[in-house]
Amino acid sequence: MFAFSFPEDFALGVASAATQIEGGDTNNSWYDWACAGHIKDGSSPLRADDHYRRWQEDLALMEEMGIRHSRFGVEWSRIEPESGKFDREALAHYRREIQAMVDAGVRPLLTIHHFTNPRWFEELGAFENPDCIGLYLRFAEVVVRELGDLVSEYITINEPNVYALNGYYGGGWPPGKKSMESYRRVLTHMTACHISAYQMIHRVRRELGFSDTKVSFANHLRVFQPLQKRNPVHRLCCTFSEKAFQGGLSRAMCLGEAAFPVYRHPLIRPGVWCDFHAINYYTRSTVSGLRDGTAPGAPVNDLGWEIYPQGIVEVCRMLYDLAPLPLYITENGTCDNQDTFRCRYLYEHLKALCSSGLPVKRYYHWCFCDNFEWLEGESARFGLVHVDYETQQRTIKKSGRFFAAAIAAHGVTEELHEQYCRCAYRR
Ligand code: FCB
Repeated sequence: MFAFSFPEDFALGVASAATQIEGGDTNNSWYDWACAGHIKDGSSPLRADDHYRRWQEDLALMEEMGIRHSRFGVEWSRIEPESGKFDREALAHYRREIQAMVDAGVRPLLTIHHFTNPRWFEELGAFENPDCIGLYLRFAEVVVRELGDLVSEYITINEPNVYALNGYYGGGWPPGKKSMESYRRVLTHMTACHISAYQMIHRVRRELGFSDTKVSFANHLRVFQPLQKRNPVHRLCCTFSEKAFQGGLSRAMCLGEAAFPVYRHPLIRPGVWCDFHAINYYTRSTVSGLRDGTAPGAPVNDLGWEIYPQGIVEVCRMLYDLAPLPLYITENGTCDNQDTFRCRYLYEHLKALCSSGLPVKRYYHWCFCDNFEWLEGESARFGLVHVDYETQQRTIKKSGRFFAAAIAAHGVTEELHEQYCRCAYRR
């Protein structure tokens, strides 16, 4: 009754981002933001998981858990520490790491940009400055030329909407702006970056002799619902929030339509600019005004985000209706500091996905190891593997063992459900 199998061509993997796990880099926008005192627990990405030095240990752990797909990122500020100056050693480091992954049978999905910028790029105005397109492309092309023989699947940019909203409208993330105009400009430039990078990556890999390239951007999608279904103000705000946060951007990034909030731009042209849909799904927003909230009485995680498993299917369907492409869940997971309900969360989201009838090919869990969670710092744990930040000791959590067992069984058996998933959510 509780058991289900994964479709044959469906695979589980894990996700991470360079700045959140690597440690040791002081040349990026989030290090500066942490130094300016913005992180809730006073931590900084300088420590994180020390993955830049411990990557072999982390890869061994992945192998031990039977994980064969990994979404990870490269750190722009390491590869291009000064504008136009590329660090061969940093590129060689990523090459060694990816080669080892491939040798171990772990397939890489590479994220080119995930929230952080080199300081020099941030100082130029980052993605608000029209020059960002050429600068981002120059960096992205170096990455693809250097690593393209090892990597066939790419995410150009992670969650442009979250980056632009938090940094340029809400003001809580670097650079701390609060302007609708800036928000729209950043989204427009990021769309142009993505569409141009889509073409560049295909071209460069063709030149390298490969024809199996797959490119997308990681699209953070939520389910939006009005607090009161019959309240016209709630409904209007809900429609507006959905469009301003994700609806318009999805059309622009996937199909090259300049839909609000994305402006028209010569590089944003009609086409299909994704080879698959890459969806980051966490929660549902309940709307009654311009700020979103949580449905009263709904189960929530340790950060107060609603747990709404059916939503993962709703957002997949939304994108599939926009363009019928294969679906990858490139992030899904939850902040559960004591690892008490993560197994149930995983089970319910996977079950919903696998019964949807949609062509879902991958599910990358956020995250492999606990890590530096942006404004929450080290205080919010999303990992399948526990990290003691003082000693850097890694310990596979109960949810990590469940995940490994689900990979081995290619589904969830009654026994696994019984053993791992009978736990209560908090409300
Ligand atoms: C996503 C981010 C990722 C991580 C998770 C919890 O929005 O892409 O880096 O912080 O949230």
